[in-house]
Amino acid sequence: LYKARCNWEKLGVSDTCYNKQKEDKSGPALVKCILESFPESSHILNKIVPDELDLIEAELINLSQERYNIVLTTGGTGLSPRDVTPEATRRVITKEATGISIGMITKSLQVTDMAMLSRAVCGYRGETLIVNLPGSAKGATECFNFIKSCLKHAVHLLT
Ligand code: MTE
Repeated sequence: LYKARCNWEKLGVSDTCYNKQKEDKSGPALVKCILESFPESSHILNKIVPDELDLIEAELINLSQERYNIVLTTGGTGLSPRDVTPEATRRVITKEATGISIGMITKSLQVTDMAMLSRAVCGYRGETLIVNLPGSAKGATECFNFIKSCLKHAVHLLT
C-alpha cells in the first residue's frame, strides 16, 4: 500500500470450517485476490475461528494489537442464529467505516438480491481496518473486488 509493507489477516469465521467438516475455500481465494491486487503486501495470514462472539472479539483485539493493517473476516454476517461476526466487530471498533459497508452491499445488490441479507460491519480499531465479507468464496471475492479501490486510502488515513 502507501507504506512499503502491508500486513493482511484473513479471518475465516465458520463452525464447519473450524471443525474441518468443510474445506475453507474463501481463505485461499481471497489470499489470491489480495496478491493480485496488492502485490506489494508483505505478510498475509489466513486463520479460522468458530462462530463464537467472545472468540471472534478476542481474535480481532489480538490482530489489532499485532498491528495488522487490514483484517478481512469472512462469514457470519447473515441472519442465522450463529451469525455473530458483525456483533463481535462492533464490540471492538472505535470508529465505524459505514461507507465501506454501504458501498459493498450496494454493489453486491447488482449481482444478487441475497446481499440484502448481509449485515456486514466495517471499522477501525487502532491502526487496523476491519472489514466483514460474506462467507462464500464467490461472495467474499466479489465484495473484496468491490471495495479494493478504497483500501489504500483507508489504510493511509490511519498511519
Ligand atoms: N454479496 C455478494 N457480492 N455475493 C454473494 O454471493 N451472498 C449473500 C450476501 N452477500 C453474496 C453477497 C448471502 S447468500 C448471504 S446469506 C449474506 O451475504 C451473508 O453471508 P454470510 O452469512 O456467509 O456472511
